[in-house]
Amino acid sequence: MGARALTSRFDQAIAREGSGALKYDGRQQTFGTTEVMPMWVADMDFAVPEAVTQALQGRVAHPVLGYSLAPDSLYQALMDWLATKHDWQVPREWIVLTPGVVPSLNMVVAALTQPDEGVIVQPPVYFPFFSAVTGQQRRLVENPLRLMDGAGQPHYQIDMDHLAVCAQQARLLLLCSPHNPVGRVWQTAEMEAMLSIANQHDLIVLSDEIHADLVYADAQHQPLSRLAMQGETAEQTVQLHRVITAVSPSKTFNIPGLGLSALIVPNTAHRQAIQRHLNILGISVTNPLNMAAFEAAYRGGNDWLTELMPYLQATRDAAVAYIQTELPSIKVIAPQATYLLWLDCRALNLDDAALKRFFIDEAQLGLSPGAMFGHGGEGFMRMNIGTTQANVLEALARLKTALARHA
Ligand SMILES: Cc1ncc(COP(=O)(O)O)c(C=O)c1O
Repeated sequence: MGARALTSRFDQAIAREGSGALKYDGRQQTFGTTEVMPMWVADMDFAVPEAVTQALQGRVAHPVLGYSLAPDSLYQALMDWLATKHDWQVPREWIVLTPGVVPSLNMVVAALTQPDEGVIVQPPVYFPFFSAVTGQQRRLVENPLRLMDGAGQPHYQIDMDHLAVCAQQARLLLLCSPHNPVGRVWQTAEMEAMLSIANQHDLIVLSDEIHADLVYADAQHQPLSRLAMQGETAEQTVQLHRVITAVSPSKTFNIPGLGLSALIVPNTAHRQAIQRHLNILGISVTNPLNMAAFEAAYRGGNDWLTELMPYLQATRDAAVAYIQTELPSIKVIAPQATYLLWLDCRALNLDDAALKRFFIDEAQLGLSPGAMFGHGGEGFMRMNIGTTQANVLEALARLKTALARHA
C-alpha cells in the first residue's frame, strides 16, 4: 500500500480519545496500556452520514426527551431499505424492534428454546453467540467451520454433514450471515442446504445479518428468509416460518453506540413469544434519539454507504496484498464482507497468551484474540480495518517490524 493522495472523506483522521469511545478509551482496561493502535471492537473511526447527524440535531432541538413511539415512517424506512437493497419484501407486522442484536439473540434463545435444549453455533464465531446459549442453561452444540486452503486462497466452509448430525440434538441454529470473524458471505447452495437440514429436523434458524450491508463488490449477500420464501410451495412456507432474521443499521452506518435493531419474525407464535419476553424484561423501544438516527440512516445514508464500500474494499485489498508479500509468516483470510480481517498466525508457534502479548508488547497493536471466538480461533487474531488507510498501513508496518525482531 503506497502513499496515495487524500481523495476520500474517510481519509480524515478523527480523534476519538476522550469521547468515551470503548475502542480508544477502553485500551488501558483491555490491553493494560494506552500505547496500542486500537483495531479491536467492531466500530469504525469514520464520521456517521450527515443525514444521521442532522436528524439527531433536529431531534435535540426539541427540548423534551420523553418516552417516544416508533413512528410508521421508521418501519417504512426499514422496509424500503430491505426491499431496495436486498430485494426482500417484509410486511410491517413481522418487525419487532429490539435494543440491539446481542439482546435479540439472547431473547430468541430465551423465548423459543427450553433449558437443556440444544442450540447450534458454528465456531469460530462472534463470542456472544456462546453466552446466549450457555448463559441461559441451554446446551451448546458446535458445528465447527472448516478452513479450506483451495488454490492458496484460504476460506471457510460449513460442514453440512456434521450440521445434519448436530440438528438431531438441537432446536435452534444461530447463523452468522455474513460471518464474523471469518468474513464469509454464504452462497445460495449453502443456504439451501442449511434450510433443508432445518426442515428435516424441525430446527428454528436465527440469521444474524448485522453485516449484510457491508459486502464487497465481489460477493452478494442474500437474506436467508428471502431465500426461504421464494416460491409458494407448502415446503417453502414451512421453511419461511422457521427463519428469524436480526437486522440493524448499526454496523452499516457506524452507529452501534445508539442501540436499536430489529428482528424480522414471520412466524406469529414466535413473534408473540419474543414479545412476551421483551415485556417481562420491561424492554420497549422508547429512545427518541436512536429512533431518529435509525430512520435517518436508512432513509438518507445510502450515498455515504456507496462511498464507504469502495474505500473499505481498497483498504482490504491493499492490506491483503501487503500481508501476502511482506508478512509471509501470517496468512490472511480475505473477507467477502465486513471490515474485519482474520489473520492466521499459527506459523508463529505462539500459544494464545503469548500471541496476545506479542501483538500488544512487540507490535503495539490492540487486536481481538482469535481464541475469543471459540474452537478454531486459537492462533488467529482479528484485525479491525474500519479506520483510515494511513492507520492500516501504519499498523501493518508495526507488525512487519515486530515480526522481523521475532524471527
Ligand atoms: C455478528 C454480530 N452480531 C451482533 C453484533 C453486535 O450487535 P449489537 O451491538 O446490536 O448488540 C456484532 C458486533 O460486532 C456482530 O458482529
